[in-house]
Amino acid sequence: MIFQIITLFPDFFKGFLENTIISRALSSNKVRINLIDCRNFTKDKYRSCDDYTYGGGAGMIIKPEPLALALDSIQAKGKKIVYPTPLGVVYNQKMAYEYAEIKEIVIICGRYEGIDQRIIDLYKPDEVSIGDYILSGSEPAASVIMDSVIRLLPGVIKGESLKEESFSNGLLEYPQYTRPEIFRGEKVPNVLLSGHHENIKKWRLKKSIEKTIMRRPDLIESIMADSNISSEIRKTIKKIMEEELTDGFN
Ligand code: ADE
Repeated sequence: MIFQIITLFPDFFKGFLENTIISRALSSNKVRINLIDCRNFTKDKYRSCDDYTYGGGAGMIIKPEPLALALDSIQAKGKKIVYPTPLGVVYNQKMAYEYAEIKEIVIICGRYEGIDQRIIDLYKPDEVSIGDYILSGSEPAASVIMDSVIRLLPGVIKGESLKEESFSNGLLEYPQYTRPEIFRGEKVPNVLLSGHHENIKKWRLKKSIEKTIMRRPDLIESIMADSNISSEIRKTIKKIMEEELTDGFN
């Protein structure tokens, strides 16, 4: 897979590329990341990529010409283009799985107050937000999207870890413990020391469901509306919700 990143700040990605999982995926050729400096496509001596917004208002936006030339330099039209912006649809794990199936993704990093609307109209990127807050630029969001996709590529991390993690079954992940068995008086739950795989599985599912009900009731609603969800998960959710109504969580 290849990511083409159009940015005014290619150096921003230095640390990201050194991350263990990412650098391993790069050196084993599972992914390529091509950083394209938007300033190389300017024509003035100041290499300026931003300008005031027509109609007035605070802040600068990215000019269309250098962005369009940068996009054309990699024949972006017709390819999957992603523009991270707080105005976009909220990114989630399902979208990460979809992007992981695509061979080439172009990401436009905006800065300041955004990019000229005509780039959006002409190149039709997916406008994607990584959450309801404003970043000063799209580079951190581009890193978030790349990270979440690259770790799903075959062979980048163990399939088992992917299966167990949060969102893979629509639920938040259960609590995890490692050695020592007792830490500052707090003991690892007995069931996890029992070696009884079936009971461990049940305990983990119960904890996952309890955590999701408390923290992300919206996810519970989506799971209950999803016809592909296993009957075990559905039944356990119903049971825990009934118990909650009578006892409350402990
Ligand atoms: N750029 C600025 N804020 C953003 C956000 N919340 N998500 C994606 N890109 C952004």
